[in-house]
Amino acid sequence: MHTHQQKILVIDFGSQYSQIIARRIRECGVYSEIVPWRVSDEWIRSFAPLGIILSGGPESTLGENSPQIPECVFHLGVPVLGICYGMQAMALKFGGAVESSKHKEYGAARVSLEQECLLTQGIEDRYQEGALAAELDVWMSHGDRVTRIPADFRAVGVSANSPYAIIANDEKHYYGVQFHPEVTHTPQGQRLIERFVRDICGCAALWTLDNIIVEAIRKVKESVKGEHVLLGLSGGVDSAVVAALLHRAIGKQLICMFIDTGLLRHEESKKVMDVFAQHLGVRVIAVDASEHFYAALKGVSDPEEKRKVIGRVFIETFERESKNLGDIPFLAQGTIYADVIESAHASHSAEVIKSHHNVGGLPKDMRFKLVEPLRELFKDEVRKMGLELGLPYDMVYRHPFPGPGLGVRILGEIHPDYVRILREADHIFMSELVAKGWYDKVSQAFAVFLPVKSVGVVGDARQYDYVIALRAVQTIDFMTAHWAHLPYELLDIVSNRIVNEVSGVSRVVYDISGKPPATIEWE
Ligand code: XMP
Repeated sequence: MHTHQQKILVIDFGSQYSQIIARRIRECGVYSEIVPWRVSDEWIRSFAPLGIILSGGPESTLGENSPQIPECVFHLGVPVLGICYGMQAMALKFGGAVESSKHKEYGAARVSLEQECLLTQGIEDRYQEGALAAELDVWMSHGDRVTRIPADFRAVGVSANSPYAIIANDEKHYYGVQFHPEVTHTPQGQRLIERFVRDICGCAALWTLDNIIVEAIRKVKESVKGEHVLLGLSGGVDSAVVAALLHRAIGKQLICMFIDTGLLRHEESKKVMDVFAQHLGVRVIAVDASEHFYAALKGVSDPEEKRKVIGRVFIETFERESKNLGDIPFLAQGTIYADVIESAHASHSAEVIKSHHNVGGLPKDMRFKLVEPLRELFKDEVRKMGLELGLPYDMVYRHPFPGPGLGVRILGEIHPDYVRILREADHIFMSELVAKGWYDKVSQAFAVFLPVKSVGVVGDARQYDYVIALRAVQTIDFMTAHWAHLPYELLDIVSNRIVNEVSGVSRVVYDISGKPPATIEWE
């Protein structure tokens, strides 16, 4: 059996948690995909899921033109689990009632399990002898609630604000939960999802790392045959994992190109060459294009303009250098599932999932056929695959780094000397975060170069030099972020080292802005 033989479909009503639902299913060893609720019945039938989960969503089922459950969902003869909005939509569909509640329920709640059902059997947070029912600790986030359940459903669980916190139609295997089992604040959530996916839908655990790698290698070999494949290595996780995977699949037929934009971090190009060329034996062509980038960026200070220039010079360099390599029919890209979902949702339809160009925004009219072996994987799966393929931990678990590199971390115009200062300062900051065990506790951290001069005193001499800002944030999705409360002692060491060791810096500041309103990057 192959990894996609038994799978679950997540129908998305716009919930911020939909991707988490799909990840939880995969953590049970079962392949899952997310599609927008407007997907056609035809698509759902051809996907042939063994079970369906209806997500939550920001809208009200009572609103005009509210998102609807696709018609065929209840004609496939497979179990269905509705979460929050998904449960309310299912209740309405079968003749139940939903009302807007005056009391929004947001946060931790307790559900009393007043009746047994297959979904919750043996799953509880506490059960006291003599108590009326076992209890589940759950996470709620809803305004509306179900106030009457359809005739063929039973009320299984109740919370203070939801008379129907869990409902079940045992015969059809339709279940509804008002809370969110997918979030970690529901401690038994993963077990509930596993119960649904493995026991109720009957999916075997075929989605395992070993199987995924074996299949990905087989697919690549089948499509590429004896031809060559070109891959742009960026130093980021996704392209690194594609390189390791393709190298394992097709060996010397893979040619990687690594463009040094001059805007990379400390020893980044050396590290990439060490890992890929020396350690793994991958064919890597290193192109030092820093002078081209610096020349094109001269006099450019607007952030968006800088991004455009960097993107353009990247493409020009890639095209020019790839022509020298002769006729290579395939181009590999590190597109991952998040990119695919984004394009599908932007177009409101799973059918028009487009290829997402993420390697320096390479244009579509390049003559290549695409190889995208990570298209179905979430970031955490990509990372696990990278480790399994022998990539070093610190490369696979590195913080994200923007495509335009240090270019958007030097405010205003870029000068090679500013790059040198920023690189050294950033390296000190990163080394200290790693040494003090803080690197993995923050989601992203970096230094920013401020082209303003400030007065300082070093020894007896007055110094008039630049300012470095340190930024460290904690976030789940990078859409919102909190500044990290790094220990003062750590900031103290970093600040001292930067001022003492990096010539050209007289002052270090720490950025204490959240997102919103401030973005994570400064430009
Ligand atoms: P902001 O600054 O928008 O950043 O809060 C959110 C996340 O996106 C990254 N970022 C970029 N990544 N090209 C990229 O590939 C870019 O132009 C770019 N701008 C920001 C940023 O590092 C953070 O992780």
